[in-house]
Formats: sequence, structure tokens, C-alpha cells
Amino acid sequence: MILRIARSRDGVSVSHFDVFEVETRRGMTVLDALFQIQDNLDPSLAFRYSCRGAVCGSCAMLIDKIPQLACRTQLASVKEQESKLRPFEALTKHPNDWDSKTEILIEPLPNLPLLKDLVVDMTEFYSAIEDMNLWADPAKGESIRIQSPEDRKKIERYVDCILCALCVGSCPINAEKKEYVGPAALTKAYRFNQDSRTPDPERYMADATKKEGAPLCDLIMNCVKVCPKGVAPGGAIRKIKQEHGV
Ligand code: SF4
Ligand code: FES
Repeated sequence: MILRIARSRDGVSVSHFDVFEVETRRGMTVLDALFQIQDNLDPSLAFRYSCRGAVCGSCAMLIDKIPQLACRTQLASVKEQESKLRPFEALTKHPNDWDSKTEILIEPLPNLPLLKDLVVDMTEFYSAIEDMNLWADPAKGESIRIQSPEDRKKIERYVDCILCALCVGSCPINAEKKEYVGPAALTKAYRFNQDSRTPDPERYMADATKKEGAPLCDLIMNCVKVCPKGVAPGGAIRKIKQEHGV
């Protein structure tokens, strides 16, 4: 199998693509192929990973023009995928010499600054979450906060977010408007707003409904299609918009 991989000389942008041939075996993932290249062909190839099991969210990248986790994407299935994403430049522009029938194209996740090869800078992504204080406030004088199974169900899908940033990398609004906080942060805000243990649920919506938040979303829903955990960020944003008239 041939992989055409984006490389960066300056740590700012993709400078060129390198082509590697990997030996495939049954069940091999894109991440396994990157390890094979790094171990045997080019130790300077940079990519990020940790859990290798779709839990840590570290290995998000653009694989054949679809944002996905490298550890969860099998090499054998890449050419069977059909993108249903609303296109924007990063999802359509490709090197002229890419043979899309035989070569798998691997690029860094769009919409975040590049650090090296397939590694992007997640600072902006995490900052959006920090700036909106997206965590549970401690309850005064209470040692424990009980939640019923029914109340837990209301937030279940949002709790599953692994902060991989695939939703941000697939979003045409994030591509256009750097100020947009993005689908993951808005979904986390809705998660705490809906959490029965939250003492002040509306504080999360104050930030989520600011002009850099839900009002910028056009409900394009690329985020729903790429989310590896079924979080459906676009659904949460739709609810924020409906419930708050933004
Ligand atoms: S909402 Fe889904 S795609 Fe977005 S960061 Fe969370 S797990 Fe990743
Ligand atoms: S390596 Fe952890 S999600 Fe892929």
C-alpha cells in the first residue's frame, strides 16, 4: 500500500509530500502504517498518538480528505469510504500528483496551526474550553452530588467527547472564522448546562451564546459525521440555538 504523507520543513505549512510503501497485514490501521514508516523508513516523520484505541483523541488527522482517528481507521477500508462532508478548501485541495485510486493521502488536521508533519497545535482548541470555564463548579457545603440514572442519560452522549478536535477540523465555519469557538466547546457548554448537578447552568450558556459561539454555527453538521464517539456536536448546538434564540 502506498501512502502519500504531508511534511513540513518550516513548522508552519505543508512544504511537500513524501511517498512511502508499507507492507500491509490484516486489520492494520493507518497509525500502524505510520509506525512502520517511522521505524523502518523515516524516523523523522512526526505524528501524535497515545492510547492506540480511540480513547485519548491524539491521532486525529486528514486521511484521504476525511478527518478521522488514525488508530481507528483500517488501511483496507480507506478506499471504500465516501465523504459526505460539506466541502471547503482543505477537504478538496490536494497535490497534483496524488493518485487517489491507489495512494492514501495523509495530511494534518485542518483548521489548527501546524507544528510538524501531522502534528497540529491544540492550544487554540483547549483555550476555547478554558476561556469558557467548561468544568463543574464545586457545590458549596456539599461533599457529594448524586445524579439519577435518568438525569445521567440526558448528558451521556456529550460526556463521551474525547477532545480529539475532529469536529473542529471538519468545520467550514472554523476554516473561515478564526474567532469561532467551535463545536466541541459549545457541546461541552451544553453538557454542563444540562447536568442536573450544575449549581448555575445558565453561566455556561452566557458564553456559548456570545457572538463567537453558537450564533456563528450554520448547522452544516460535518461535525456530526466525523465525531468518532457519536457525540453529535451539531445536535447540541442546534438545541442551544433553539433554546436561546441565537
Ligand atoms: S465532539 Fe466528537 S469530534 Fe468533537 S472533540 Fe469531542 S469526540 Fe472529537
Ligand atoms: S491514539 Fe488515542 S485516539 Fe488514536
